[in-house]
Formats: sequence, structure tokens, C-alpha cells
Amino acid sequence: MFRWHSPGIGVSATISDADIESYVWFKDRNGFEAAQRIACMSVTIVGSQLGDEGKGALVDLWGGEADVVSRYQGGDNAGHTVVENGEEYKLSLVPSGAIRNKIGVLGNGCVVNLDTLFDEIDTLRDRGIDPEVRIARRAHVIMPYHRVLDGIEEDAKSDSDLDAGTTGRGIGPTYEDKAGRRGIRVGDLLDRSTLRERLEYVVPQKRALAEKVFDIDVGAQFDTDVLFDKYAGIGERLREESMTVNAGKFLNDCLGSGKNILFEGAQGTSIDIDHGIYPYVTSSNPTAGGAATGTGIGPTVIGQGEVVGIIKSYLSRVGTGPLPTELIDQDEPLADAIRERGSEFGTVTGRPRRIGWLDMPMLRHAQRANGFTGIAVNHIDVLAELETIKVGHSYELDGETRMTMPATTERWNECEPVYRTFDPWPDVSWSDVGEAGYSSLPSNAQAYLEYIAAELDTSLYAIGVGPDRADTVELTNPFDR
Ligand code: IMP
Repeated sequence: MFRWHSPGIGVSATISDADIESYVWFKDRNGFEAAQRIACMSVTIVGSQLGDEGKGALVDLWGGEADVVSRYQGGDNAGHTVVENGEEYKLSLVPSGAIRNKIGVLGNGCVVNLDTLFDEIDTLRDRGIDPEVRIARRAHVIMPYHRVLDGIEEDAKSDSDLDAGTTGRGIGPTYEDKAGRRGIRVGDLLDRSTLRERLEYVVPQKRALAEKVFDIDVGAQFDTDVLFDKYAGIGERLREESMTVNAGKFLNDCLGSGKNILFEGAQGTSIDIDHGIYPYVTSSNPTAGGAATGTGIGPTVIGQGEVVGIIKSYLSRVGTGPLPTELIDQDEPLADAIRERGSEFGTVTGRPRRIGWLDMPMLRHAQRANGFTGIAVNHIDVLAELETIKVGHSYELDGETRMTMPATTERWNECEPVYRTFDPWPDVSWSDVGEAGYSSLPSNAQAYLEYIAAELDTSLYAIGVGPDRADTVELTNPFDR
């Protein structure tokens, strides 16, 4: 056994003899014996486009090497399907690693619908899996009135085309209350007097908003006493099951004791509240910086790890707003074919997704905002056998060439994509490709992938060629870097 001190993490811990070779040793600037793990300890998975890039497959693949999988933003607007031992699990909140005996953490940057969370946990228990899930006491709770207000506001905005096409899960209204300092946090549910005080302040405001501004009749979702009874009860369950944590400390201690953490981003960079196509965005930060603010682990620590951008080899979009490379009008049959083949229907809402060609300025923007150390490109099989494959390589705007997205969505809407055409690749046995590796990919598909990696000046870590875990060609496991 060795005592060590980590300069990045600032804690001391004990390393077993078996793990000793995974560390380098040196004296830190105070003269203490210090050690740093050689292998990467954190991997952050980020969506590079508009969400639905197939992040779940990589979380599933690399989560095998992690001890902890932590979400850092969003809520049950995300949806992922995990297949384990032939069984399919559809999850929105329980981090997928929890199916594989990993600790799942919902960080403080998440907004949590506790009904959804307990439904998922109870369903998993009925199926013989007891997931270990911890929730940050600083995370905000999606209350029933948030869901009602989400729907009302989307309706109100639809007259002026400003509706974002939300998932209706109350995400925006919950983050709104967080920023307005009137939210209910998970920790508040553990203390009856705080919970009552918070509800007595906020619920009458929400009721007045619904009744007086939006002119609707409200029910139990806006009743302070009903909400108090329900959420005090939920607080009891959270306490009995020891589910809440000080997430930053919990995760920091995990890193300090040599555990690997996978930070699982939901949604994608172009629907980030700060870096996305505002106002057609979600209300959180899916970008890599969100992994720090949304968990309480410092950016320097996250930055010592890997940040992997997940890319779909074309675009899909469930929400509203512009989409310069969208396949519309005469290209609609092509969009239909890609939609069918790629099963492009929303996991949470079932809505058919809009389809477009890969948008390289969007990806360059994502690379800058996230600082990817590597990328994974999914759905290469879906583009097989198309007559031609196009990529929006740059935009033309006001007679000038633009290589990345303008800052406003209105200007983005004025961008004309300048396309590059790629030679098509044949349909092959993708499961064989999954087994045989990169060299067995059709050469035109390799050229397409290498173009993407070169434009983003980064390395290809993995290629998705089908829906199953075995259908991923892995070139680099970021935990081994
Ligand atoms: P919200 O997150 O439900 O508020 O929705 C805001 C916008 O983000 C809408 O355009 C949604 O369609 C989009 N969105 C939210 N979650 C996802 C996701 O998991 N995948 C893709 N789009 C999403």
C-alpha cells in the first residue's frame, strides 16, 4: 500500500500494490511525494451536433472501463436504449452504466423528474437489476407545474414560430426557476421546513402565471399542500435509500481513490443554451464545460482527461428552427430513405426527425467549443448505397466563404451550404466490419471519415456501423490514453 497525493485533485489516497504500476511518481512543489495516474481517469462524451448522435453506444462501450458514469446536464428530455445480454432497456435518467453495475451519478447541472427516475429504478428492479444511482443535492427538481408551463409556453410561442419543439418535459421552466433563484433543489426535499417555505413562495407565482397570463384552469400541479405532501414523501424515499450526495465531493473522492469516471453529456453542442442555435435550444450546457459546472469537478481536472465528440455522419433534428443542409423538396425521398434506415424517430417523443447532410461548419464550431481530443462517427452504415453523399463543407454568406457558424441563428438561416461530394460506398456485412476492424470498411467510407477527422484536426477513436455494441469499430479506447 502507498499513500499518495494527487496534484490535480488535491486529495490523498491509498493505492493498492496491484495498481501501483498505473501511476507516475514525483515530488510536488511542496516537496510531498505525489503520484499521477498514467491512464486517463475521466472521459467526457459530448454530442457534436443537434443531439441524437448515438452517444449511448459509446457510453455503453467505454463505460465498461469506468467505475462511475455521471450525467452533468439535462433531464428526462434525453433518451437512450441499452441492450445488455439480449435485453433492451429504455432509459431517460438512470445513467446507462448503472445497468452494468457502475455507480450512476446525476450531477448538480441536471434537472430531475423524480417520478421518472423512480419509475425507471422500479422497472429495473422488477427486471432483476438494482442500479446504484446517486443524485446531487444541488440538482434542481422538475416539478409538475414545470411540465404544464412547458406545454403552455410552447403553444403561446407557436404563433410566432418561436417554439423550440421541446420534449415537453418541463426542462426550460425548471432551468428558468434555477436561474431565477426560485427553484426547488433535491436537497430541499430532505428538509420539510425548507421545502414548505420554498413551495409557499413559488407555487402561488406559478399559479398566477398560468391563470392570469396564460388563462388556463390549474389543478393539483399548482397546489402547495398537494405538492408538499408528495415531495416530502419523495424526500423520505431519497433519504431511506441514501440516494443523495454532495456530487462534487463524491466524484472528487472517486477520482482520488483511483476510480475512472465517464461524464455523459446529453443533447448536443448546437442545442447548447450558450453555443447553440438560440432560441431553438435546450436550456443547459451539453458542451464539455458543462461537465465541470454540472458536477463540481474543476475544469483543469476534466481537461486532464479526454473529451470525445460524438458525430452522426449526417444531421438529424427533432426540434424546430433553421437547418441549412436539410434535405427538403426534391430531396425528400432521400430524407425518407435515411430516416427509415437510421430509425430517425425521437426516443423520447417518437417524432420523425428532420434529416440533412453533414454540416462541417457546425462541427468546426463544436470542435472549438469543446476542444475534442478525439471523435467517434456513427451511422456510417446508414449512408451505404446512396447515389452520392454530400457534405456542407463551408457556407456562403453575403458573398463570403464562412468556415464556421455565425453567432446568431438568423444569420445561420441565411447561410448557403457549399457542398463537397463524396463517392458512395456499398452495403456490406456491417457486423463483419465490426469484428474485422477499420481496414475492412469500404475505402470510400474511410475517405469520408478521414476527411472529417482532418477538417477537425483530431483523431478518430471509433466508428459506429450498426446499433449493437459489437457494431462499433474501436481504434482507441480513451481510457487507455
Ligand atoms: P427541451 O430540452 O425539451 O426544452 O427542448 C428544447 C430543444 O432541444 C427542442 O428543439 C428539442 O427537440 C431539443 N432536444 C431536447 N432533448 C433532445 C435530445 O435528447 N435529442 C435531440 N434534441 C433534443
